[in-house]
Amino acid sequence: MQIIIASNYEDMSRKAADVIAAQLKEKPDTILGLATGSTPIGLYAELVNDCDAGLISFADVESFNLDEYRGLDGTHDQSYRYFMNHHLFDHVDIDKARTHVPDGSNPDSDTACAEYEHAIAAAGGVDLQLLGLGHNGHVGFNEPADHFPVDTHIVDLTESTIQANSRLFDSIDDVPRQAYTMGIGTIMKAASILVVANGADKANIIAEAFTGPVVPSVPASVLQLHPRVTVIVNEEAGAVIKDRL
Ligand code: F6R
Repeated sequence: MQIIIASNYEDMSRKAADVIAAQLKEKPDTILGLATGSTPIGLYAELVNDCDAGLISFADVESFNLDEYRGLDGTHDQSYRYFMNHHLFDHVDIDKARTHVPDGSNPDSDTACAEYEHAIAAAGGVDLQLLGLGHNGHVGFNEPADHFPVDTHIVDLTESTIQANSRLFDSIDDVPRQAYTMGIGTIMKAASILVVANGADKANIIAEAFTGPVVPSVPASVLQLHPRVTVIVNEEAGAVIKDRL
Protein backbone atom coordinates (compact mmCIF):
# COMPACT_ATOMS: atom_id res chain seq x y z
CA MET A 1 0.00 0.00 0.00
CA GLN A 2 1.37 3.37 -1.00
CA ILE A 3 0.25 6.29 1.17
CA ILE A 4 0.76 9.79 -0.22
CA ILE A 5 0.15 12.85 1.96
CA ALA A 6 -0.70 15.81 -0.25
CA SER A 7 -0.48 19.38 0.99
CA ASN A 8 -4.12 20.36 0.54
CA TYR A 9 -7.38 19.40 -1.19
CA GLU A 10 -6.25 20.80 -4.56
CA ASP A 11 -2.96 18.89 -4.36
CA MET A 12 -4.80 15.69 -3.35
CA SER A 13 -7.19 16.14 -6.28
CA ARG A 14 -4.38 16.76 -8.77
CA LYS A 15 -2.30 13.82 -7.56
CA ALA A 16 -5.33 11.51 -7.73
CA ALA A 17 -6.20 12.82 -11.21
CA ASP A 18 -2.62 12.06 -12.24
CA VAL A 19 -3.06 8.40 -11.19
CA ILE A 20 -6.23 8.11 -13.29
CA ALA A 21 -4.70 10.02 -16.22
CA ALA A 22 -1.66 7.71 -16.21
CA GLN A 23 -4.00 4.70 -16.21
CA LEU A 24 -5.96 6.06 -19.20
CA LYS A 25 -2.76 6.76 -21.14
CA GLU A 26 -1.43 3.26 -20.46
CA LYS A 27 -4.77 1.55 -21.21
CA PRO A 28 -7.24 3.75 -23.13
CA ASP A 29 -9.97 1.11 -22.81
CA THR A 30 -9.69 1.06 -19.03
CA ILE A 31 -12.59 -0.22 -16.94
CA LEU A 32 -12.87 2.47 -14.26
CA GLY A 33 -14.63 2.02 -10.94
CA LEU A 34 -15.96 5.37 -9.70
CA ALA A 35 -17.24 6.91 -6.47
CA THR A 36 -19.51 9.79 -5.54
CA GLY A 37 -19.33 11.92 -2.36
CA SER A 38 -17.70 15.28 -1.79
CA THR A 39 -14.07 14.09 -1.83
CA PRO A 40 -13.71 13.23 -5.56
CA ILE A 41 -15.41 16.40 -6.87
CA GLY A 42 -12.05 18.20 -7.21
CA LEU A 43 -10.38 15.28 -8.94
CA TYR A 44 -13.29 14.97 -11.39
CA ALA A 45 -12.86 18.68 -12.18
CA GLU A 46 -9.15 18.03 -12.85
CA LEU A 47 -10.03 15.16 -15.20
CA VAL A 48 -12.51 17.39 -17.05
CA ASN A 49 -9.74 20.00 -17.50
CA ASP A 50 -7.29 17.33 -18.70
CA CYS A 51 -9.85 16.08 -21.19
CA ASP A 52 -10.60 19.64 -22.41
CA ALA A 53 -6.86 20.17 -22.87
CA GLY A 54 -6.62 17.00 -24.96
CA LEU A 55 -4.30 15.32 -22.46
CA ILE A 56 -6.61 12.36 -21.81
CA SER A 57 -9.62 10.77 -23.45
CA PHE A 58 -12.49 8.71 -22.05
CA ALA A 59 -13.63 7.64 -25.52
CA ASP A 60 -12.78 3.98 -24.94
CA VAL A 61 -13.42 3.91 -21.19
CA GLU A 62 -16.18 1.89 -19.53
CA SER A 63 -17.14 2.79 -15.97
CA PHE A 64 -18.91 1.21 -13.02
CA ASN A 65 -19.97 3.24 -10.00
CA LEU A 66 -19.87 1.82 -6.51
CA ASP A 67 -23.43 2.42 -5.45
CA GLU A 68 -26.87 3.96 -5.93
CA TYR A 69 -29.95 4.66 -3.82
CA ARG A 70 -32.74 2.15 -4.30
CA GLY A 71 -35.89 3.94 -5.42
CA LEU A 72 -34.26 6.89 -7.18
CA ASP A 73 -33.94 6.97 -10.94
CA GLY A 74 -31.11 8.80 -12.67
CA THR A 75 -33.10 12.00 -13.21
CA HIS A 76 -33.44 12.60 -9.45
CA ASP A 77 -30.94 15.25 -8.42
CA GLN A 78 -29.86 13.22 -5.38
CA SER A 79 -29.21 10.05 -7.37
CA TYR A 80 -25.61 9.02 -7.84
CA ARG A 81 -26.23 8.74 -11.61
CA TYR A 82 -27.19 12.43 -11.61
CA PHE A 83 -24.06 13.27 -9.59
CA MET A 84 -21.79 11.46 -12.06
CA ASN A 85 -23.40 13.10 -15.09
CA HIS A 86 -23.11 16.50 -13.42
CA HIS A 87 -19.49 16.23 -12.23
CA LEU A 88 -17.89 14.09 -14.93
CA PHE A 89 -19.82 12.30 -17.67
CA ASP A 90 -21.52 15.40 -19.16
CA HIS A 91 -18.14 17.12 -19.56
CA VAL A 92 -15.86 14.45 -21.03
CA ASP A 93 -15.86 12.36 -24.21
CA ILE A 94 -17.17 9.21 -22.51
CA ASP A 95 -19.90 7.13 -24.19
CA LYS A 96 -22.72 7.41 -21.63
CA ALA A 97 -24.04 4.00 -22.70
CA ARG A 98 -20.82 2.56 -21.27
CA THR A 99 -21.20 4.27 -17.89
CA HIS A 100 -22.87 2.02 -15.34
CA VAL A 101 -24.46 2.79 -12.00
CA PRO A 102 -26.52 0.18 -10.11
CA ASP A 103 -30.13 0.46 -11.27
CA GLY A 104 -31.83 2.20 -8.35
CA SER A 105 -35.10 2.27 -10.29
CA ASN A 106 -35.29 -1.54 -10.29
CA PRO A 107 -37.21 -2.56 -7.14
CA ASP A 108 -36.15 -6.20 -7.66
CA SER A 109 -32.95 -6.07 -5.63
CA ASP A 110 -31.83 -9.63 -6.44
CA THR A 111 -31.99 -8.97 -10.17
CA ALA A 112 -30.53 -5.46 -9.98
CA CYS A 113 -27.54 -6.61 -7.92
CA ALA A 114 -26.90 -9.86 -9.82
CA GLU A 115 -27.07 -8.03 -13.17
CA TYR A 116 -24.59 -5.43 -11.94
CA GLU A 117 -22.12 -8.00 -10.69
CA HIS A 118 -22.47 -9.87 -13.98
CA ALA A 119 -21.93 -6.71 -16.05
CA ILE A 120 -18.67 -5.94 -14.24
CA ALA A 121 -17.41 -9.48 -14.83
CA ALA A 122 -18.57 -9.43 -18.48
CA ALA A 123 -16.61 -6.20 -19.06
CA GLY A 124 -13.49 -8.02 -17.85
CA GLY A 125 -13.36 -6.62 -14.32
CA VAL A 126 -12.40 -3.20 -12.98
CA ASP A 127 -8.84 -2.02 -13.77
CA LEU A 128 -8.78 0.91 -11.37
CA GLN A 129 -11.33 1.46 -8.61
CA LEU A 130 -11.65 4.89 -7.00
CA LEU A 131 -12.89 4.96 -3.39
CA GLY A 132 -13.76 7.58 -0.81
CA LEU A 133 -13.82 6.69 2.86
CA GLY A 134 -16.62 7.15 5.40
CA HIS A 135 -15.93 8.36 8.94
CA ASN A 136 -16.69 4.88 10.24
CA GLY A 137 -14.48 3.20 7.64
CA HIS A 138 -17.25 2.41 5.18
CA VAL A 139 -16.47 1.97 1.48
CA GLY A 140 -19.33 2.16 -0.98
CA PHE A 141 -22.33 1.49 1.28
CA ASN A 142 -20.48 -1.35 3.06
CA GLU A 143 -20.98 -0.25 6.64
CA PRO A 144 -19.21 -1.69 9.72
CA ALA A 145 -20.49 -5.24 10.20
CA ASP A 146 -19.50 -8.63 11.58
CA HIS A 147 -18.49 -9.88 8.12
CA PHE A 148 -17.29 -8.53 4.78
CA PRO A 149 -20.20 -8.59 2.27
CA VAL A 150 -18.93 -10.21 -0.92
CA ASP A 151 -21.01 -9.29 -3.99
CA THR A 152 -23.17 -6.35 -5.06
CA HIS A 153 -26.07 -6.31 -2.59
CA ILE A 154 -28.87 -4.28 -1.06
CA VAL A 155 -28.28 -2.43 2.21
CA ASP A 156 -30.60 -0.78 4.71
CA LEU A 157 -29.36 2.72 5.44
CA THR A 158 -28.72 3.41 9.10
CA GLU A 159 -30.93 5.90 10.93
CA SER A 160 -27.96 8.30 11.22
CA THR A 161 -27.32 8.17 7.46
CA ILE A 162 -31.03 8.82 6.77
CA GLN A 163 -30.94 11.78 9.18
CA ALA A 164 -27.72 13.13 7.63
CA ASN A 165 -29.09 12.80 4.09
CA SER A 166 -32.40 14.44 4.94
CA ARG A 167 -30.81 17.90 4.48
CA LEU A 168 -30.63 17.16 0.76
CA PHE A 169 -34.30 16.20 0.36
CA ASP A 170 -37.57 18.13 0.76
CA SER A 171 -38.56 15.97 3.73
CA ILE A 172 -37.09 13.06 5.66
CA ASP A 173 -39.83 10.84 4.22
CA ASP A 174 -38.29 11.36 0.76
CA VAL A 175 -34.88 10.00 1.82
CA PRO A 176 -34.28 6.53 0.39
CA ARG A 177 -34.13 3.80 3.04
CA GLN A 178 -32.03 1.40 1.01
CA ALA A 179 -29.20 1.34 -1.51
CA TYR A 180 -27.45 -1.06 -3.88
CA THR A 181 -23.68 -1.28 -3.46
CA MET A 182 -20.75 -3.23 -4.78
CA GLY A 183 -19.62 -5.67 -2.10
CA ILE A 184 -16.19 -5.78 -0.51
CA GLY A 185 -15.45 -8.80 -2.71
CA THR A 186 -16.44 -6.83 -5.82
CA ILE A 187 -14.12 -3.98 -4.80
CA MET A 188 -11.22 -6.31 -3.93
CA LYS A 189 -11.36 -7.88 -7.40
CA ALA A 190 -10.23 -4.58 -8.98
CA ALA A 191 -6.69 -4.78 -10.37
CA SER A 192 -5.73 -1.58 -8.56
CA ILE A 193 -7.43 0.75 -6.08
CA LEU A 194 -7.11 4.49 -5.45
CA VAL A 195 -8.45 5.87 -2.16
CA VAL A 196 -8.91 9.61 -1.59
CA ALA A 197 -9.69 11.31 1.72
CA ASN A 198 -9.72 14.91 2.82
CA GLY A 199 -10.07 16.79 6.11
CA ALA A 200 -9.14 16.49 9.77
CA ASP A 201 -12.34 14.55 10.46
CA LYS A 202 -10.90 11.63 8.43
CA ALA A 203 -7.49 11.55 10.18
CA ASN A 204 -8.36 8.91 12.80
CA ILE A 205 -10.17 6.56 10.45
CA ILE A 206 -7.36 6.77 7.86
CA ALA A 207 -4.87 5.63 10.49
CA GLU A 208 -7.19 2.96 11.90
CA ALA A 209 -8.14 1.54 8.51
CA PHE A 210 -4.64 1.36 7.07
CA THR A 211 -2.43 0.64 10.07
CA GLY A 212 -4.89 -1.13 12.41
CA PRO A 213 -6.18 -4.69 12.36
CA VAL A 214 -8.09 -6.00 9.32
CA VAL A 215 -11.62 -6.30 10.72
CA PRO A 216 -15.13 -6.03 9.20
CA SER A 217 -15.99 -3.43 11.84
CA VAL A 218 -13.68 -1.17 9.79
CA PRO A 219 -14.58 -2.24 6.23
CA ALA A 220 -11.77 -0.26 4.53
CA SER A 221 -9.17 -2.15 6.59
CA VAL A 222 -9.54 -5.07 4.17
CA LEU A 223 -7.73 -2.94 1.57
CA GLN A 224 -4.51 -3.74 3.46
CA LEU A 225 -4.77 -7.20 1.87
CA HIS A 226 -4.95 -5.86 -1.69
CA PRO A 227 -1.65 -5.86 -3.63
CA ARG A 228 -2.08 -2.53 -5.45
CA VAL A 229 -3.60 0.25 -3.36
CA THR A 230 -2.66 3.94 -3.45
CA VAL A 231 -4.09 6.19 -0.73
CA ILE A 232 -3.92 9.95 -1.32
CA VAL A 233 -4.93 12.22 1.54
CA ASN A 234 -4.51 15.91 2.28
CA GLU A 235 -2.31 17.02 5.16
CA GLU A 236 -5.12 17.13 7.74
CA ALA A 237 -6.41 13.68 6.84
CA GLY A 238 -2.84 12.34 7.05
CA ALA A 239 -2.12 13.90 10.44
CA VAL A 240 -2.41 10.67 12.48
CA ILE A 241 -1.14 8.09 10.00
CA LYS A 242 1.99 10.09 9.19
CA ASP A 243 3.54 9.14 12.56
CA ARG A 244 2.80 5.45 11.98
CA LEU A 245 4.45 5.07 8.57
C1 F6R B 1 -19.74 7.16 -2.60
C2 F6R B 1 -19.52 6.18 -1.56
C3 F6R B 1 -19.19 6.55 -0.15
C4 F6R B 1 -18.28 7.76 -0.01
C5 F6R B 1 -17.96 8.05 1.45
C6 F6R B 1 -17.13 9.31 1.63
O1 F6R B 1 -20.06 6.53 -3.84
O2 F6R B 1 -19.63 5.05 -1.86
O3 F6R B 1 -18.61 5.43 0.46
O4 F6R B 1 -17.09 7.56 -0.72
O5 F6R B 1 -19.14 8.18 2.19
O6 F6R B 1 -17.91 10.41 1.27
P1 F6R B 1 -17.31 11.88 1.21
O7 F6R B 1 -16.33 11.91 0.07
O8 F6R B 1 -18.50 12.76 0.94
O9 F6R B 1 -16.65 12.14 2.52
